[in-house]
Amino acid sequence: MTLKQVDSTNTFLKNILSNSKPVPEGTVIMAEDQFAGRGQRENVWHAEPGKNLTFSILLRPNFIDAAGQYDVTRAASLGVYDALQPLLGDGLKIKWPNDIYYQDKKLGGMLIENILQGSQIKNSVIGIGLNVNQDNFHDNAHNATSIRKILQRDYDLKNILAEICNHIEAYYLHLKAGRFDFVRNAYLSRLYWLNEERQYRSNGQVFTGRIKCVTNAGMLVIDKDGEEAAFNLKEIEFLNK
Ligand code: BTN
Repeated sequence: MTLKQVDSTNTFLKNILSNSKPVPEGTVIMAEDQFAGRGQRENVWHAEPGKNLTFSILLRPNFIDAAGQYDVTRAASLGVYDALQPLLGDGLKIKWPNDIYYQDKKLGGMLIENILQGSQIKNSVIGIGLNVNQDNFHDNAHNATSIRKILQRDYDLKNILAEICNHIEAYYLHLKAGRFDFVRNAYLSRLYWLNEERQYRSNGQVFTGRIKCVTNAGMLVIDKDGEEAAFNLKEIEFLNK
């Protein structure tokens, strides 16, 4: 379903889920103009109307328990990555936990909201924002880029959307078939700064370290001087030069 204008496709999808009519798995809600997009860490997500992809997909991974939520994040990130890789090549990376980067700039991000029932995931609302044909970004989004900025031409939003959905479905089916290690290894191999010596900040302290892996629960493991430490999203900041 395409909406002309909505506050947030994630909020819209969550609202229709709480109404009585059943919503089929695989439902995609796309907005031409999302005027109050929500990002991670309570950030806002800005996207010029008509130029970008802002959409949410409904999955029902009730075969995964709450402790395995991060596998959904992996499948969604990989789906976006694999859809774009033929266009953009190896400059494309997944920045932990689920940002889509091209070289050192952010091309897209996601906000995944899981609705739990007991220890199972009842609904997973996967909200994806991808900068496609936008040319100019606000000063406070100095780190943003778009496919147009990289490749100097416009792309059809619906084609890219279809590619992303197909690839997410493929990874989702791997999860459904129990191939968790395949998905985890694929995710790790596409990770931004994997094994590179880089600077990070945690608790006000800057340190140098190397990303080694991501735990099953989604924590980022960094080796600092031979000692490994695991971080969650709020605990660590990547310091670009
Ligand atoms: C981030 O990088 O902080 C995540 C951005 C997620 C934005 C998408 S756009 C579609 C969906 N609806 C929202 O309100 N947010 C997500």
